[in-house]
Amino acid sequence: MLNFSFSNSTRIHFGEGQTQIIAKEIPANARVLLAYGGGSIKSNGIYDEVIAGLGERFVVEFSGIEPNPSYDTLIKAVPLIKEHQLDYILAVGGGSVADGCKFISAAAFYEGDDPWDIIAKRAKITQALPIGVVLTLPATGSESNAGSVVTRHGHKGAFSHPLLQPQFAVLDPKVTLSLSDRQVGNGVVDAFVHTMEQYLTYGVNGKVQDRFSEGLLQTLIEDGPKALAAESKQDLEVRANIMWSATLALNGLIGAGVPQDWTTHMIGHELTAAHGIDHARTLSIVLPAVMKVRREVKREKLLQYAERVWQLKDGDDDSRIDRAIALTEEFFTTMGVPTRMSHVDLNSGHIDNLIANLTEHGMVKLGEQRAVTPEISRQILETAL
Ligand code: NZQ
Ligand code: ZN
Repeated sequence: MLNFSFSNSTRIHFGEGQTQIIAKEIPANARVLLAYGGGSIKSNGIYDEVIAGLGERFVVEFSGIEPNPSYDTLIKAVPLIKEHQLDYILAVGGGSVADGCKFISAAAFYEGDDPWDIIAKRAKITQALPIGVVLTLPATGSESNAGSVVTRHGHKGAFSHPLLQPQFAVLDPKVTLSLSDRQVGNGVVDAFVHTMEQYLTYGVNGKVQDRFSEGLLQTLIEDGPKALAAESKQDLEVRANIMWSATLALNGLIGAGVPQDWTTHMIGHELTAAHGIDHARTLSIVLPAVMKVRREVKREKLLQYAERVWQLKDGDDDSRIDRAIALTEEFFTTMGVPTRMSHVDLNSGHIDNLIANLTEHGMVKLGEQRAVTPEISRQILETAL
């Protein structure tokens, strides 16, 4: 196992009716920026619960944070914070709202000329507003990690800082019943790929991390399809298991002490930035191709994945790996997401631009061994056609 330091300070309040806890979590005298997306929180009732929980506190609303939040939208919140002397941010929504609030939180104290430098130039974050999250879409893990992804001028850039770790997160599975099938599928697949990118590398005898990861993958494979099936899509236990899996997939626990490979995400971010494809739908296209192109360096873990996650015990090594990759693709298809570039109307003519963007954004040494060059990323995209 590799050395690691691990801490996750976000207090999780899980279960039906937990939203009222915001009344205790947010200081009574806090001046709150209530941030949300395009309005789903108003149609599913969560907005009313949040407003009730905020009680008499001074609240300024900031709505319209879009999927794959943009710098241009988020930056509009900064003058509101200054004008009203706000000192707490409550994010109500999915990963985009949570991520957007992390950027707003850091940008509010940024003293340089251009807050985008927080991402583009890794400008130092020295202060940030505290954040709480009421999560409505299980997928990204953003509700209990310090990371954020923001887009500007075709660059989907990630950054993270411990000051941006949410203080608390409310996870009420009931809130997820209003998700469309598309967003349910996206969320399950995003959590699945987060787990894979911290698992499918090379063995370091991290037994606990491996078995946690295999448990999350099996749970998502078992319950993901149930959240789409007519007879079980209202089942709150199914929703609860998906929600908790998604949080644990990216709260730092399974990735501590093991190598990580974020190739799929980094290539996926370019697909979203250039072509507007939903985050998870880029991952379902790229991951199977990564498994194929990086098959030899990942051989040992692919065999472990085949045996422990898919119970493949018969046949020779290569046929078990082939089958495990095929079953992964079948699972993605069951969740309603694409597995080829052609499924989203992209072809070989789009690859040059994607590779140029990856290179421009410094994504030239990806993978657990930093061995995935732009040339290998090109092979991955060609395999994904
Ligand atoms: O905007 P509203 O109206 O709220 O609608 C949203 C949005 O259209 C809707 N939605 C959310 N909860 C709902 C709901 N609709 C009905 N009922 C509900 N309960 O779902 C749509 C998508 O929301 P979004 O927040 O964009 O989805 P997701 O949670 O998948 O977040 C994706 C973003 O997170 C980033 C992605 O890159 C992407 O920008 N990621 C963040 C990570 C992190 N911070 O650690 C890691 C991830 O790998 C990922 O990169
Ligand atoms: Zn993701």
